[in-house]
Amino acid sequence: MQTDVLAEPAGETRVAATPERASQPLLIGVPKETAPLEKRVATVPEVVEKLVKLGFRVAVQSGAGDAANFADDTYRAAGAEVLPTAAEVWSRSDMVFKVRAPSPDEVRLLREGATLISFIWPAQNPELMQQLAARRATVLAIDSLPRQLSRAQKMDALTSMAGISGYRAVIEAANAFGRFFNGQITAAGKIPPAKVFIAGAGVAGLAAIGTAANLGAIVRANDTRAEVADQVVSLGGEFVKVDYEEEGSGGGGYAKVMSEGFQQAQREMYAKQAREVDIIITTALIPGKPAPKLITADMVKSMKPGSVIVDMAAEQGGNCELTVPNEAVVRHGVTIIGYTDLASRLAKQSSTLYSTNLLRLTEELCKTKDGVIDVNMEDDAIRGLTVIKEGGITWPPPPPKIPAAAPQAKPAAMPPAPKGHGHGSSEPMSAKSLAIVFGVGALLFLLVGLYAPASFLSHFTVFVLACFVGYMVVWNVTPSLHTPLMSVTNAISSIIAIGALIQVAPPLTGGDAVNRPNALILGLAVFALALTAVNMFGGFAVTRRMLAMFRK
Ligand code: NAI
Repeated sequence: MQTDVLAEPAGETRVAATPERASQPLLIGVPKETAPLEKRVATVPEVVEKLVKLGFRVAVQSGAGDAANFADDTYRAAGAEVLPTAAEVWSRSDMVFKVRAPSPDEVRLLREGATLISFIWPAQNPELMQQLAARRATVLAIDSLPRQLSRAQKMDALTSMAGISGYRAVIEAANAFGRFFNGQITAAGKIPPAKVFIAGAGVAGLAAIGTAANLGAIVRANDTRAEVADQVVSLGGEFVKVDYEEEGSGGGGYAKVMSEGFQQAQREMYAKQAREVDIIITTALIPGKPAPKLITADMVKSMKPGSVIVDMAAEQGGNCELTVPNEAVVRHGVTIIGYTDLASRLAKQSSTLYSTNLLRLTEELCKTKDGVIDVNMEDDAIRGLTVIKEGGITWPPPPPKIPAAAPQAKPAAMPPAPKGHGHGSSEPMSAKSLAIVFGVGALLFLLVGLYAPASFLSHFTVFVLACFVGYMVVWNVTPSLHTPLMSVTNAISSIIAIGALIQVAPPLTGGDAVNRPNALILGLAVFALALTAVNMFGGFAVTRRMLAMFRK
């Protein structure tokens, strides 16, 4: 079966089911994951219900959710059809939702012209890209989401998975460690808290810091990007600096390869930490590079017996010299854990978050809520994700037009940026155009001044100045703080309360009864005051809560 192109305005395609069922909603298929150790499922029953409300039909392979504790019956109850085999799901679906990139066998099962949403890693999997293109598929790689767009955060599966993995890394460490994390004073004696050192404070590292601190451990962390120090502290950790001055940020919120001098100083600091701490969790990674070797065999040897290392970068070659990928090994009395399936070990949680990310993406693709998707290549987020469009490889995408909003959200593997492009398209105005704009503005102002009445001019001047100050204030605020800014300006705008107060308050000069407002005006003023109070105090309360979220 083939998809039918309904309309094709510049850059967008509406995809519906085959001609004979053009009026029918698309069928979303969810096969069981086949990669070894993979327990996640791309869609959970709760999300099936929401997909059905968006107008889609959903078919799930029998047993797809078993490993994540979602039984076939719960899918049926949510409105999905349960199909017995993978072949049926793949061949009947107009759109397939998956977690891991498909195997060559799975690609062969994909219906020609169908849409696939999954992790793909196009830079690392050129062969897979070719196979998918040969199926004339449209492929949305969730790992290629432009994470710097604040609008894309709800679809950011890399962040949700890394957060879960960081949490699980601490749980794995606690499981292998023979002591409490928190310090205790008991009748039998004093127990010191465990000391945990986290190498790399990206998404996974920060989640690990928060989890270990919540368990009561003393947490220290290091990252080559000094700007993460505040985040480490806000999560309850201590940022340990390398005694060497060098800027570690490679731009766009990513790290860079450090100089030999820095690396030497960093090794000395890590060696000292290894001797002192009980647990090391390593998450250091530079996108597109093998993981830096930060923990040497000698450092492992110097750790106390019973200590634990969790090497989250095991899949990229490991941050520790002695890591064995996918295994927990004991070397020199230290347990070294190199699991590469940490998110999958919390299958129910990670499936729920992952499928919510896919739901948010589907909502973006189907704004009409009629079970038909619109792969709008004019939309920055969709453009970034779409690595193959109807058989044509569209990866890598041009850089997004909107400037970066959330520096902490970074892809684990960033596609190499095409040469000759800067960040975003917001080119600064040239001095010449700026002079023209100012000249025209001044001329207009002069004309208004010559012909308008004096009272208008004074109000107009205040208005222009207010616009200018307002613009400068908002422009200099980080986009992610715009929502709290709106709520605080909302509260401040309650200055209208003054009008109502003047009506309610008795005249200061003890004026006669004639000048007093009548009962109706008084009632309205009191009512307006009550409403404004809600606006004012509510605005401040909302701002407080939002800022608290940023502090966490
Ligand atoms: P990320 O890119 O957000 O964080 C990596 C951090 O390492 C960055 O903050 C970077 O500045 C820092 N870094 C780079 N070089 C460093 C160095 N020489 N010294 C100190 N810090 C350095 O990545 P994310 O999402 O936090 O993932 C971290 C690691 O965990 C990656 O290797 C990722 O592939 C892996 N991962 C593993 C999983 C598993 O199941 N084992 C699951 C999810 C992620």
